[in-house]
Parts: sequence; C-alpha cells; structure tokens
Amino acid sequence: MRDAIMTSLEENRRFFPPENPQANIASMEQYRELCRQFEQDREGTWRKLALTHLAWQEPFTRVLNRDKAPFFTWFEDGRLNVSVNCLDRHIEAGLGERTAIIWEGEPGDVRRISYRELHEQVCRAAGAMRELGIEAGDRVVIYMPMIPEAAIAMLACTRIGAVHSVVFGAFSAQALRERIADAGAKLVVTADGGWRRGSVHALKPHVDEALEGLEGHTVKHVLVVRRGGNEIGWRPGRDIEWDEALAVAPSRCDPVVVSAEHPLFILYTSGSTGKPKGILHASGGYLLWARLTMLWTFDFQPASDVFWCTADIGWITGHTYAIYGPLACGGTTLMYEGVPTQPDPGRLWSICERHGVTIFYTAPTAIRALIKAGDEWPARYDLSALRLLGTVGEPINPEAWMWYHRVIGGGRCPIVDTWWQTETGGHMIAPLPFATPTKPGSACLPLPGIEVDIVDHDGLTILEGGGMLVIREPWPSMLRGIWGDPSRYVETYWSKFDGRFYFAGDGARRDEDGYFWIMGRIDDVLNVSGHRLGTMEIESALVAHERVAEAAVVGRPDPIKGEAICAFVVLRQGEGDEALKQELRAHVARIIGPIAKPDDIRFAEALPKTRSGKIMRRLLRDIAAGRNIAQDMSTLEDKEVIRRLMEG
Ligand code: WTA
Repeated sequence: MRDAIMTSLEENRRFFPPENPQANIASMEQYRELCRQFEQDREGTWRKLALTHLAWQEPFTRVLNRDKAPFFTWFEDGRLNVSVNCLDRHIEAGLGERTAIIWEGEPGDVRRISYRELHEQVCRAAGAMRELGIEAGDRVVIYMPMIPEAAIAMLACTRIGAVHSVVFGAFSAQALRERIADAGAKLVVTADGGWRRGSVHALKPHVDEALEGLEGHTVKHVLVVRRGGNEIGWRPGRDIEWDEALAVAPSRCDPVVVSAEHPLFILYTSGSTGKPKGILHASGGYLLWARLTMLWTFDFQPASDVFWCTADIGWITGHTYAIYGPLACGGTTLMYEGVPTQPDPGRLWSICERHGVTIFYTAPTAIRALIKAGDEWPARYDLSALRLLGTVGEPINPEAWMWYHRVIGGGRCPIVDTWWQTETGGHMIAPLPFATPTKPGSACLPLPGIEVDIVDHDGLTILEGGGMLVIREPWPSMLRGIWGDPSRYVETYWSKFDGRFYFAGDGARRDEDGYFWIMGRIDDVLNVSGHRLGTMEIESALVAHERVAEAAVVGRPDPIKGEAICAFVVLRQGEGDEALKQELRAHVARIIGPIAKPDDIRFAEALPKTRSGKIMRRLLRDIAAGRNIAQDMSTLEDKEVIRRLMEG
C-alpha cells in the first residue's frame, strides 16, 4: 500500500490495550468480517447490533421499513427512552458515581458531574419543563453557552419525549427568530450569557429580541440559567429562573417511553437556498449509531477514557460526540465553555493535561490555528495521557495532519479523520484507530454497514478517481426529513439519482487502495472554519441592506479557515468604500451571526452572467482566489464586467 502510515499501531496497542474487543474493532480482519456480515444479512446485522447496544422498553420486530422510501424508518415498533439509555441504565449497572461530565468554564471554574447527579438534574429539568406544559412531541429551542445545563436541557427533553432544537449561541437574534418560528417552539431554554474571549457574551437579550419581532409565536416560556451574571430584562410570567424551577421540581421523573422513530431533535443547517433546513433525527437509530461509532471510530473505553470533543452543541458534532455518544456508552465527556486561545494558545493543552484527556476530537481549522500559534504552547504541557486524536468538518491538509500526529500525539496516537454530516447523524467514513493503516488527508474507508460510493452524473460507480459522494443503502442514524418540508428533503438528497441513493453534496476521490479523499462541497454550501454556511443565506442578508442591489457570495481558499467568504456586491447607486464594507460586514453579523461576516467585499458595477442570466459562480471563485481565468468566456454576457472585477 502506497503512502500508508501505520501510526505506530503496535506500539499504541501496547500502550493502551483495547479492553473491550467485543464492541470495538481491533483489526482489519474484524473490520472485514463485520462488513461481510452486513453483505450477507444487512438487516440481521443491524438487528443484532441494535438489540445488543440499546436498552429497549419493548424490542422491535421490524428493522427497516422501505415502504415510503426515501422516508425510511428504523426499528419502528421498538420502544425506548433516550435519557434512560444515556443515564438510568448506567446507574443500574452500578456506575452512578462515575463522572459523566467534566466541565471547565472559560474563567477556570471546574465542575465534575457524576451519572447520579446528572440523572437527578435531568429529572428535575424534565419535571420543570412538564410543569411549564411541555409534552411529548413539543419543540424546545435551546440557545445556550457550553455549560452543563445545555446538556441537561437536551437530555431533559428526551426524558419527556420533547424535541429539542439547539441554536448555536453565536447566531444572531434574527437567525434565532427564524428557527423558533420554523420549529414552532413552545419553550426556549437560554442563559443570561456565557464567557467567551475573556468577557460575557449575552444570550437572553437575543431571545427577547427574537420573540419581540415574531408575531403570533408559540413560545409560552423562557427558562433562564444564570451563568454570565450580566444584566438582563425580565418578563414576569413568561421568564422563569432555571434554578428556582429545578429546586421545586421532583428529583425523579418517569421517562416517557417513545417509539424508536419518535423525533429526537431538529438541527438547522445550511443548504443551497437562503432558508436553513431543519434536519430531523429520530431517537433509536440515531442513538445506536452515536454509541457504535464512539466504540468503533474512537475505540472508546468508557471506564478509563476522558473524551473531549471541542465542538459546540450548536452543531451536529457537539450533539453526537460531546453529548449523546459518550453518554450512551456510559463514559466521561469533557465540555469547555470558552475559546481555545483564552487566556493564551496553550489553553486546550492545559485542559488536556489537567483533566487527563485521552481522546481529543477537533476541526482542522483549530489545528491550523494552533500550528500558527507555535509548538512552544503544546510543549509546555504533559499530553502523555492522549492516546487517540480525531478530526472532522473539513478536509485536513497533510501538513496539519502530520503536525497533529507528531506534536500533539507524540507520534504515538492514531489520527481518525471522520467524514460525516448533520444529515448522517454520525461518522460514515473513518479509519478504525487500531486497525486501519491511515494516509494523511484521507478519511480512509466506510464504516461497517455504510455503503458509500463515488459516482458520475449518471450514477455510475467510479472505481478509481473523482466524482460525487453518495450512500447507497439507508442507515439507522440517517435524517428522517426536513422539518415541515418533506419535498425539499426528497429534492435535495434523493432526486439527483432518481431515489436510488443519498446524495451527500460532497465531491470525493477514491484511490487505488479504495481509500476515500473528500474534496469538499460541490453545491452552494461553504465550509468556513468547519462551519457550514449557505452562500444564498449570506446573499439574502446582503441584499437586505438598503444600498445593495445584488450580491454573489463565493468561497476562496484560506490557509487557516479552509474557506473564506468573498462577496461581490452591486450597489443601487453611488460608490462603495471602506466604511460601507465595514457596515455590510456588521449588517451580515446582525442578520446571521459573526461567523457569516464576509472576509472580502468587492464592489462591482454588475455580476458576470450567462446569456440566460445565471451568475457565473465558477468564474467568481477564480477571481476571488486570484486564479487565472481559464474558463471560456464566450458564454459570458459582458466581458467588460470581468475585466473590472479582476481589477477591483
Ligand atoms: C464537510 C459536520 C472533509 C463535508 C460533521 C460535509 C468534511 C460537511 C469532513 C458537513 C472530513 C465533514 N473531511 N470534509 N473529515 N467532515 N466535512 O453538516 O463537506 O456541519 O458535507 O457536519 O462538512 O458539515 P456538517
């Protein structure tokens, strides 16, 4: 095998022997054997895994229902409760005193919460929600900093069968409003504010603003955790203190047993239109895969590992690998409130040292920023407890991969580059850390049970080379739809190949060893610092400004962020200047959030369009990246436009 690195697998296994070979895949033979089992009996293999790995109140009889494809259902007549799977069953197994969450606040405060304590808090929060009229199926929006109460609120929803929708705390009031309205939320759980970059970032005022601007909304109550200590407005009757509500709620709360297909959460993500999609996940299938991938991809040893996924719970990575995965396994998860560089670029490594982190999972953007900060920062800390490193969210360049492996992993930790999406619920393509020989920059091979393929425009398999990434068979943690918009679900993911397989929206290449290399999005979705943003969303935000007539947004390569946002803006009248650029950036931050602020704004007299009026995005991407324009310009309406854009 060419370019393969064995990541000192042998040495690593001696250093930390897998304790649980039953659940974790420890060799390529085991991997191939499991793949073979899936080939011979797909449903039977899923059945066995689902029955072994989840605690069912009533076991299912039917594994997969394809009757309403592409609306697939899994384990549909089985009944369970997600919080029971994440808490009660571990306590019943005698693990009540094990630490479930280690939390560190940005100012340095630390909390360790055992499974028993977490269970009690979740029960109280669930009771408090119930008291506020929340019932199974109701939607609860969670707009929180990274504090344990965010996890408690999520699990409390699952206790009573409510559906949570977490909105990233750095999204604007307007973005929050849109999501509250689309989800039809009855309750919002928030905090006064949280710590970020050395000061308190306010949250509750955004909730107030979101609700004020939303006529006829369904929100009856706002449950407020005190964290930042910042001044906030208060609406008596509607606003409820978290602490007070939990104090009077009973410490036990009977779980509401739901169907495996009961909606677990909605998570909004960007697509090709201006409107974010509410990706819907179901309880049983999602939780099964969250747990299995923890064991497979991370070789998670719940009794001894301290697992740290740095993602915010506002993103799918935070859902699956900061909360549900580790807790479904009965292990310890670490949560950190603040930014990695606060008070200095050694913060992440200091946390790893002080809490004995064994598995560390982050985005390539963070790795690249830390490389830039200098090797002296990790060198100050003892990182010898680390045994496994992961990456997610964007393609990782081989240099960053090697640095991560050498400097952070001390050359002894395997690196798992995990490809997946909000829609897939959990990892789809990833190496198995103590089995798969890795190649820097490749997500390696599909996990057992996952039928990934690369196809051309006709849907024909490309064995070696580049094409579109698809998934040929349904899998348990797949999205169940887009909230309130079934036709968009069919259109976005299933129409390209006539319902034959799931279209991921990524381009990828398969090499001569069958390894997958993800090339990035091939639709109008940007990946900025591992955050998904739709070009159309940013364009709509820009044209909402009174001076803007038209806007086109494209990505350009950025050495740290992966992609930077470049906006071409046509004004209604007058000239654009630096002040207007700043104003437009602030305007986009107000409408979507600071992560969507364009890095470059170029004013133009017109946008390059084809004769049929379509904006030529590929051309704009070339201009944004400063590339030579090789494209044939004969289809272009006005060649003069290009000349000016390139000069601008
Ligand atoms: C990209 C994040 C390369 C991809 C979990 C995908 C990746 C999008 C990788 C989903 C990876 C994710 N290598 N690209 N290992 N992982 N992506 O929904 O373009 O926020 O479609 O989920 O991130 O982003 P999302």
